[in-house]
Amino acid sequence: MKRTHTCGEITKKEIGKKVTLQGWMHVRRDHGGLIFIDLRDRYGFTQIVFNPESKAFKTGEKIKRESVIQATGIVKARPKGMENNKLVTGEIEAWIEEAEILNEAEVPPFEVDDRMEASEELRLKYRYLDLRRPIMQQRLLIRHKAAQAAREYLSSQSFLEIETPMLLKTTPGGARVFKVPSRVHPGKFYALPESPQMYKQLLMVAGCDRYFQLARCLRDEDLRIDRQPEFTQIDMEMSFIEIEDIIQVVEGLLKSIFKKAINEEIKTPFQKLTFYEAMSRFGSDKPDLRFGLELKDVSKIAKKSGFSVFTKALEAKDGVVYCLNAKGCGNFSRTDIEQLIELAKTHKMGGLAWMKVTKDGKVESSIVKYFPEAVQKELIKAVDAKENDLLLFTADEFEKAANALGQVRLAIGEKLKLMKPEDHKFCWVTEFPLFERNEENNNWQARHHIFTSPMNEDMDLLEKDPGKVRAKAYDIVLNGVEIGGGSIRIHRKDVQTRSLAVTGLAYEEAEKKFDFLINAFKYGAPPHGGIAIGFDRLSALLCGINDIREMIAFPKNKAAENPMDGSPQDWTDKFLKELHLKLDIVKKQ
Ligand code: AMO
Repeated sequence: MKRTHTCGEITKKEIGKKVTLQGWMHVRRDHGGLIFIDLRDRYGFTQIVFNPESKAFKTGEKIKRESVIQATGIVKARPKGMENNKLVTGEIEAWIEEAEILNEAEVPPFEVDDRMEASEELRLKYRYLDLRRPIMQQRLLIRHKAAQAAREYLSSQSFLEIETPMLLKTTPGGARVFKVPSRVHPGKFYALPESPQMYKQLLMVAGCDRYFQLARCLRDEDLRIDRQPEFTQIDMEMSFIEIEDIIQVVEGLLKSIFKKAINEEIKTPFQKLTFYEAMSRFGSDKPDLRFGLELKDVSKIAKKSGFSVFTKALEAKDGVVYCLNAKGCGNFSRTDIEQLIELAKTHKMGGLAWMKVTKDGKVESSIVKYFPEAVQKELIKAVDAKENDLLLFTADEFEKAANALGQVRLAIGEKLKLMKPEDHKFCWVTEFPLFERNEENNNWQARHHIFTSPMNEDMDLLEKDPGKVRAKAYDIVLNGVEIGGGSIRIHRKDVQTRSLAVTGLAYEEAEKKFDFLINAFKYGAPPHGGIAIGFDRLSALLCGINDIREMIAFPKNKAAENPMDGSPQDWTDKFLKELHLKLDIVKKQ
């Protein structure tokens, strides 16, 4: 190797030594006849100097931004007052004697500089330039450290890293899967894994006891800042365990990752909330615990009002009225409140009722007239309302009303800047409902997946009241982001048959769909369960951000395209012929 040092390591100790550096020309300054260049690589910057008397000067004059160069010279101390204490190399500079341009760069489409961010489209089109930026290098490094920590920790806990297939039949999760046509079998398709779910369960039947994988998952979903069509999970499965064992492993894993990736000690055990508690206190099954502003069920008080929106909602099944006391927000303008109302409407509410608390401790709004004075007093007491508080209400079926007010809570938290990215507030959410209604046909469907075990206490409800059955499922939440989820699985045919029956799927039908897994269960399946941590989301939070595209070397844009390689691409006739396919695009309705 020609280079003797990277650009991020030379200190005063090397003064007087001859060094050879290779890297990218970051910035150039011509000053008093000398040329100063900040040479950059993954490790940092080193200031190099070209002196008109050196034979390297002619080359120095020609070096353009982002060109790759090699330079050899003597390390000197920077003149007094010229040091840069923000850089490891800030006390020295290398006076160059020989230089060579290894690759001359054209003018780049944007500056490789953390202080000037180009548009998302340009950043993705020239991702290799965007990734040169120190902040992006830092993110890749943190992600790498987190992956290493995960591998080390899980290996130390007897987990085996095992790869599972990318081309497969079907998976039981709710996400839409990508399909791949088979050349060898005309007209047949493989599915790409939305997760390794069934294979990891098969590994338990295979006696592997503890499995993990940094698994690539593919889901044909609409994208958001925390959703990509290709993403990575730290995927795990364990045999002969209870929920508590999984919780302990995951807490140990996260502790190790936080320590090794960002040198932060996190406190365990994490707080546990049941789904019902999380929804009723925070209006979310992924509560952000960095701030308070909890919701309150005021149904009993609202029932005594004459406000028909409330009373009607309360007459319906599971109807509730929830209140959020936005402390100190009584000065919100009409526009602020309108924005909150619009937000509630996008979350399936007809509106958002509100009251302001006045100086004399009374409430004021257009709906106050429907509340007798005694009821107003009761309400004020129940939500601990004080002068200048803003009370916000949703009324509907429990999950809908709580969820919409939970969104309002987050918007207020954001407006009041209550969520600090450097705070890390974890919690477990447990006891999720096993089933939910399919919005299209109103049938029951598994909320997690059909192999999720019901809680022992709720077995009897499977036939009597499926909506009330709680699952042995759990999510791990960090700062309001679901960073992982899993469950204890069903490993017995009788329970599986009953659970399938609720969703209208006969055991025999399921046997056809998931035959290989159900067959395997006939030959000795251990009780087992697992979890998958969304690794992109976790890494983003380690870096104090939410957008997972920042953590993925080559992500897709919002339209699921890659502006750099041009995927997805048109298929040529030759390509289609090879796959025995004919293209006949059906126009979207
Ligand atoms: P689930 O579907 O909940 O569970 O996924 C686990 C975690 O993966 C992350 N995640 C995503 N991250 C980025 N982009 C996406 N499109 C995306 N979808 C999910 C989330 C989520 O919590 N097989 C089960 C796990 C199990 O039961 O063991 C599964 O995949 O952080």
